[in-house]
Order: sequence, then C-alpha cells, then structure tokens
Amino acid sequence: MSADSPTPTPPPGARSDWTIDQDWQAYSQSEHDVWTTLYERQTKLLPGRACNAFLKGLDALDLHRGGIPEFSRINEELNRLTGWSVVAVPGLVPDEVFFEHLANRRFPAGRFIRKPDELDYLQEPDVFHDVFGHVPMLTDPTFADYMQAYGQGGMRALGRGQLHNLARLYWYTVEFGLLETSEGLRIYGAGIVSSRAESIFALNDPSPNRLGFDLERVMRTPYRIDDFQQVYFVIPSLKALLNATLQDFEPIYQRLTQAPDIDIDVMAPGDRVFTCGTQAYAMAGGRLASA
Ligand code: PHE
Ligand code: FE
Repeated sequence: MSADSPTPTPPPGARSDWTIDQDWQAYSQSEHDVWTTLYERQTKLLPGRACNAFLKGLDALDLHRGGIPEFSRINEELNRLTGWSVVAVPGLVPDEVFFEHLANRRFPAGRFIRKPDELDYLQEPDVFHDVFGHVPMLTDPTFADYMQAYGQGGMRALGRGQLHNLARLYWYTVEFGLLETSEGLRIYGAGIVSSRAESIFALNDPSPNRLGFDLERVMRTPYRIDDFQQVYFVIPSLKALLNATLQDFEPIYQRLTQAPDIDIDVMAPGDRVFTCGTQAYAMAGGRLASA
C-alpha cells in the first residue's frame, strides 16, 4: 500500500478501528479442542526453548483454561501487568490501523482458529498464533514498551515510505527473534513459539544462520514468509532491543536508501556469528520438498 492511499473501509460489521467483538460464545467445542491440542503440543516443547519472559507471561495469563481464551478475561491480567489489551479483528488489518492499535497498547488479534487439518501451517494469523504467540511477551514491561514504540515508529515510517525496512525489524524480532541467555539461545518470536516445527528448527537445525542482532543489518535483510527462516537474529537482551530502537530512525532510513539489501543466506562483514548455517534445508527446496 502506498503511503498516501486512503485507508480502506472496515468490512461490514467491524467498527471504524476495524475491531469486532470476539463473540466467544460462538466458538464450537471442536474449535476449543484445536486450541487445546495446539496449546498442549507447544507447552510440552517450550520449556528450555522459549525465553523466561514468554514462559512467565504464559503462566500469568492462564491460557489453558477451557480452550480458546476469552479476551475480556486475559485483558484483566494483561492490563494490570503492562497496560496492554487484546482486541479482536476480522483478519489482517491495514498497516496504519495496525500501528495505531500498537501505539495505544492494543494488540489486534484474529478471532478465528485454524481447522484441525491445518495444525502445522496456515497463511493467515489465527487466534492461536496471535494470542498464544504474541500476548505472553506483552506481559513483559520492556517488550511491552518496545511494541508500543514500534507502533509509533510504524506511523512515522509509513508517512515517509520506509515501511519495507521497518517491517523487516518486526519480522526478525517480534515474529522470529532469538534471545541469548547464559543457558543458551531462547525463542521470543511469536512466529516461532506458535509453530511446533519451527520451535525446533530455529534452535536446533544446522541449516539457518544465527547472527547477532544489528538494527541496520536487520533492516537490510529480506525475509521468508512462506517457509522457515534462513537467518535468525539474536538479541543480547530485551532491554538492548528496546534501547537500539529509542534512537531517531530518520538518519538510518536516509542511509538505507543508499544501502543494498543483504542476501538472506549470506554472512556480512561485521556479523557476529552464532551459527554459520549449512542452508541445506532451503537448498533442498524447503517445505515443498519435505511435504
Ligand atoms: N525510534 C524509531 C523512529 O524514530 C521508532 C521505533 C521504535 C521503531 C521501536 C521501531 C521500534 O522511528
Ligand atoms: Fe504475528
């Protein structure tokens, strides 16, 4: 979407900020069962893999009770902890709508849940990805501030046509970020923690590169939307991530207009290398080959 295109109007039934009621009563038992299946699968896998902030948030929100969580219930605790809340939306929303919600500490979440035959892969974020994947981290005060700042930065970047660079930051942190701890690498990205296969791949597979996070480097790196990532970026701490983004991005955007993209599978001068990946998975054709 170009910077000056008008915001599309919300679909019928949605409010002007694109929110809808979750309509929790309307979920069927089999939809609740999908949540429970996914929840149990992931929580078995995540101790020792997800970072402490995620695991702590998951606990605090009590997301296991009775299938798909009711947003009004989790919002009480979430609001108390960091002032964030979850709002239901029909699906993906326009960028400016998304940023506006984040800037006001509201996380827009899909309310639909994937079908029982799509447990492992789906195109559009559903309530499991959005709530299980994203919301636990929003109970962490530092991450909560980062997400709000991202929303504010998104509105600025949109205005200057620099969204492609900023979107990469979101992708490689909020969705697919890894964190360095004294016990080894841990996951904090929602796209990883909500996926069984990628929770293993991101930490254990020899294929992808794992590189130290560097803001401008990340903003120059394209990403995969259709398969496991070929590179993951590792932050030293959530505070360090927030601190790196407190600076004014204007001079960075200026430099980036001159800086070429960095190929997804290469190591660049200055990279801090945690894993020099084989790229074997991507070279073999990825998920299409393994399907
Ligand atoms: N500091 C950024 C700017 O000047 C805003 C931002 C904060 C972007 C946090 C992303 C994450 O635009
Ligand atoms: Fe997401």
